[in-house]
Amino acid sequence: MERHFGLIGYPLGHSFSQGYFQKKFEALGLTDHTYNLFPLTSLNEFPKLVQNNKLTGLNVTIPYKQDVIAFLDSLDTSAEKVGAVNVIKFNNGKLIGHNTDYPAFKKSLDAFIGQTKPSALVLGTGGASKAVMAALDDLEIEYHQVSRIATASAFSYEQLILSPDILEEFKLIINTTPLGMSPQLDTCPNLPYDQLTDSHYLFDLVYNPETTLFLSKGQQAGSKTKNGLEMLHIQADLAWDIWNA
Ligand SMILES: NC(=O)c1ccc[n+]([C@@H]2O[C@H](COP(=O)([O-])OP(=O)(O)OC[C@H]3O[C@@H](n4cnc5c(N)ncnc54)[C@H](OP(=O)(O)O)[C@@H]3O)[C@@H](O)[C@H]2O)c1
Repeated sequence: MERHFGLIGYPLGHSFSQGYFQKKFEALGLTDHTYNLFPLTSLNEFPKLVQNNKLTGLNVTIPYKQDVIAFLDSLDTSAEKVGAVNVIKFNNGKLIGHNTDYPAFKKSLDAFIGQTKPSALVLGTGGASKAVMAALDDLEIEYHQVSRIATASAFSYEQLILSPDILEEFKLIINTTPLGMSPQLDTCPNLPYDQLTDSHYLFDLVYNPETTLFLSKGQQAGSKTKNGLEMLHIQADLAWDIWNA
């Protein structure tokens, strides 16, 4: 059966999802399946895109994960909990929003930290941080956010530099900012890295490069590290399951 999928976002350069699904279709012999990139300069173009393409499913990426919700008929519990959508399923003319970043991060983190439940610092307050916080809630891990501007629920990076002992309390540090992502290889969150120890866990949602500067600084201090590649694969597999359910 002919089925069409794709990715919306802007700008769309190299896409992991397109390569991933095209390879999957090939491996499964699904020659009548397509996965196209739909770079939308504005979500105002979304209704026309839906009208002109007989779609089964879409992935959603930056900057539309939250704003696309206004164009959907309903949200499943994962998207509702996170307040962001990265997967859309077209079901009998209805558009249903899902979030697979959240369960994917949860599974990947769980495999990383095992039974330990270290308090966490969540760096960044964007869409990805919401998926991360939903997972931390489920895993009953306490956390505090870190933002460029201090708020009631977030330390600023300056506060961490001025009070480096904060890192003694928070042994899990999760980077949800794009810092360190290719081609900005020489950037990393502004942390007191000299406070890291071998009892710290550093998780970077960035997956390209494999070892970001953030993770490399952690490794130098003997901290355990994990990048976002496994999460990326899990979220794509979960999207495939949703489209086939
Ligand atoms: N592995 C995966 O499967 C997966 C899934 C989803 C996302 N990701 C990755 O996660 C990252 C974040 O995604 P997102 O959608 O949340 O992105 P985003 O909304 O563009 O940015 C996240 C947050 O990072 C902080 N930030 C942005 N630029 C910064 C800078 N120059 N310095 C310091 N902080 C900065 C901001 O928080 P403040 O304003 O509070 O500082 C921002 O809200 C991306 O690299 C994305 O590729 C990976």
